[in-house]
Amino acid sequence: MNTVRKAVIPVAGLGTRVLPASKAIPKEMMPVVDKPVIQHVVEEAVSAGIKEIILVTRSGKSAIEDHFDKHYELEAELARKNKTAILESIRNIVPADVTISSVRQPEALGLGHAVHCAASLINNEPFAVILPDVLVNNYQQDTTDLDLMIKAYDAKAAGQIMVEAVPDEKVHLYGIVDCQGNDPAAGESVAITGMVEKPAQEVAPSNLSVVGRYVLPGRVMELLSTTKPGAGGEIQLTDALDELLKEQAVDAYRMTGKTYDCGNKLGYLQANLAYGLQHPETAEGLAQLLQQEFLQEALEQKELLKQEA
Ligand code: G1P
Repeated sequence: MNTVRKAVIPVAGLGTRVLPASKAIPKEMMPVVDKPVIQHVVEEAVSAGIKEIILVTRSGKSAIEDHFDKHYELEAELARKNKTAILESIRNIVPADVTISSVRQPEALGLGHAVHCAASLINNEPFAVILPDVLVNNYQQDTTDLDLMIKAYDAKAAGQIMVEAVPDEKVHLYGIVDCQGNDPAAGESVAITGMVEKPAQEVAPSNLSVVGRYVLPGRVMELLSTTKPGAGGEIQLTDALDELLKEQAVDAYRMTGKTYDCGNKLGYLQANLAYGLQHPETAEGLAQLLQQEFLQEALEQKELLKQEA
């Protein structure tokens, strides 16, 4: 059995990159096809064997907790109308043996600070950190990257941090790992020797970026309690992990799936197209739309813009 049973999902972010959509609803509640982003992420955790999910939230984001809670009125109404399939889709979002709890992050002091807000619930056990902006699509694969990372954590007794290569001009947007030039193959992990948050291109140790999935020992919480503000004046998870490396092995795990950053507009649209093309109810219609009308329209639109310029 997996030793990693807990996951921390920080959801206290302001969602400034997807405004105005996220003004009155949490960005994590924006739908990708027919489920809010947060549900996709929670389902990923559950399928990797996670049993306790801890949301790190803040005021104004209670819709996220409500989404995973019982909705008596709606359930009664759907039952009365015999809408069984829809009823099932809202009733069992998480299995009965999975709990979802939440803690508050009172101030936006950084990702490291947000994760540390869950320290007492993690209680020194190993845990996963899942950043909900990033959807990891493992469509038609036997398993998920998070599942493989948890298995690698157990097999190697080393923290696992998911990475993917990014163009050099984008390294300043991510946590970047140093693996001494060892590039892990997809689905494999290699030892990390250093990590740096959002480095300038000239000093970045590699172009392997931290993607938003981590499997970590409980010790990280102790390290976070003394981590000083770093990049952007925020308490960074990356800095605590750089400290952890001095004590124990931590690996970079190279992902096999595909990521979509739903925290920005284009990534969010891409996610909807990709997941829409995988959903049984929308796949065929969307594929036709893209091939015929939509593509033609897009090309004409581009042509018009060119003429106007
Ligand atoms: C956070 C992490 C960064 C990571 C990124 C992945 O940054 O601090 O290390 O590479 O998520 O999405 P943020 O995007 O919150 O600035």
